[in-house]
Amino acid sequence: MSTKPVPSRIVHCADALAWLKNQKLPEGNSLFTSLPDSSELKRLSFSEWQDWFITAAEVVLRATPEHSAAIFFQTDVKHGNSWVDKSFLVQRGAFAAGARLLWHKIVCRAPAGVATFGRPGYAHLLCFSRRLVDLVKHATPDVLPQLGTMTWPKAIGLEAAQQGVIWLRDRAHAHCIIDPFCGIGTVLAVANQQGLDAIGVEIAASRAKKALALFL
Ligand SMILES: C[S@@+](CC[C@H](N)C(=O)[O-])C[C@H]1O[C@@H](n2cnc3c(N)ncnc32)[C@H](O)[C@@H]1O
Repeated sequence: MSTKPVPSRIVHCADALAWLKNQKLPEGNSLFTSLPDSSELKRLSFSEWQDWFITAAEVVLRATPEHSAAIFFQTDVKHGNSWVDKSFLVQRGAFAAGARLLWHKIVCRAPAGVATFGRPGYAHLLCFSRRLVDLVKHATPDVLPQLGTMTWPKAIGLEAAQQGVIWLRDRAHAHCIIDPFCGIGTVLAVANQQGLDAIGVEIAASRAKKALALFL
């Protein structure tokens, strides 16, 4: 009798961009990440962070195998008198990498119709690929009414993570999910829960350690 192998998890404590540039990932690996906010990269000015963010999105998409896909979960920020749309920044990186937007979902962080102060009431879930074709007959909801439980304040919500991982497994043929900015490992834990192998990269040693241990 054959038993299903337990999905694996590997976490590297490293700089994600240097790590990604050294990889030649085969098809079947999909990426799913949240790039760090300016508040997490205090050594950079706000404008330097914007440039870094665009380059990071480009590096993530260049590392994504051509027929696989990459998903970004990002929440906008307000800076001075400006609303900074992280979807626009990711899309600038995607354009540079030659990747196409396959879908763009809005994830409600607050119920529709409710005003929020500070962070906006929604987040972006964006999916890109260079060669994968997503058939219209496989359309999935564009507005996710709930983020789901957050494992820590900077986390992706569990419902958004589940939707993204399931899409990558079923539509992008992913058997492994890579989160190059994995934090405490929410996406990795969801990937394992859905039967997929997971690889994380995280620069903070304490978070990398937690990312290996998080189970849902
Ligand atoms: C938005 S958080 C990710 C949260 C994660 N999705 C979760 O749910 O736990 C971004 C993470 O990127 C990490 N980070 C920042 N710069 C990095 C770098 N150059 N390489 C790898 N990780 C980095 C931060 O320490 C932080 O944990």
